[in-house]
Amino acid sequence: MSTPPNTAQIDYWNDTPGLTWASLQTLLDRQIAPLGAAALAALDPRAGERILDIGCGCGDTTLALALAVGPEGQVLGADISRPMLEVARQRIAASELAQASVIEADAQAEDFGAASWDALYSRFGVMFFADPPAAFANLAAALKPGGRLAFVCWRPLKENPWMTAPLAAALKHVPPPQPTDPNDPGPFAFADPERVRGILAGAGFGDIVLAPHDEAIGGNALEDALVVARKVGPAGRLIADHPDQRADILASLREALSAHDGPDGVWFDSATWIVTATKA
Ligand SMILES: C[S@@+](CC[C@H](N)C(=O)[O-])C[C@H]1O[C@@H](n2cnc3c(N)ncnc32)[C@H](O)[C@@H]1O
Repeated sequence: MSTPPNTAQIDYWNDTPGLTWASLQTLLDRQIAPLGAAALAALDPRAGERILDIGCGCGDTTLALALAVGPEGQVLGADISRPMLEVARQRIAASELAQASVIEADAQAEDFGAASWDALYSRFGVMFFADPPAAFANLAAALKPGGRLAFVCWRPLKENPWMTAPLAAALKHVPPPQPTDPNDPGPFAFADPERVRGILAGAGFGDIVLAPHDEAIGGNALEDALVVARKVGPAGRLIADHPDQRADILASLREALSAHDGPDGVWFDSATWIVTATKA
């Protein structure tokens, strides 16, 4: 029997990273909500529409989309992470928005029904596919003709100080991690605009636009921001890989984040693409 696609990512998001995202949901939502809102505005969801939220995680954007489509619409969040979906289910139940629901599904392989959705949306949930052309072909098949797509993804690491500052703090004490293929599944896999254009065009999308979006993100108090920096992203991995340097790395992390702390919490610049397209 052949291995199903995305087994590595399914394992990853059901292990410590998924549990971490679930437990830090409030802090992470606070950081990235404005970027999701920018993609949502670009999608321009309308009352009564049926919308898929790809890689919906803890459901923040599923709820936002559900409010936008109203009770006559439908929003289905799809994700592979059981701990994050559990948080999403609790939040949806508490919201009493009957038009919102989530399923455990690999968006690359799931049959969402042919030509039955008005739009696809994602906040940082489409950069993890083992086979992006196959995934977007599958997603395009679920869209009605003329259906819309909007997602937000990161531009290159070097343009994202919210990530490079904690990394630089850690690298004062430990050697850099082994370089990986920039196109490997991961947060920066869609940093190259030509690659994204090629994947979307190959899947049958037209009117493809990658609009650069620069916005400071943060808003968490220093101690909370430190927890996020320690547990999510490369600094956390370097601490895990070098437990003897933990105290030194944490001290430098605190110094780096303190330099960006103000009355409204810790803020760093971020750089993303707001990607929009239409099914031809
Ligand atoms: C960086 S998190 C973003 C989560 C959420 N969209 C948010 O903004 O809070 C990436 C999400 O993509 C999900 N994901 C990764 N590969 C996936 C796949 N093949 N199908 C569905 N979801 C996937 C992960 O489980 C995770 O929840």
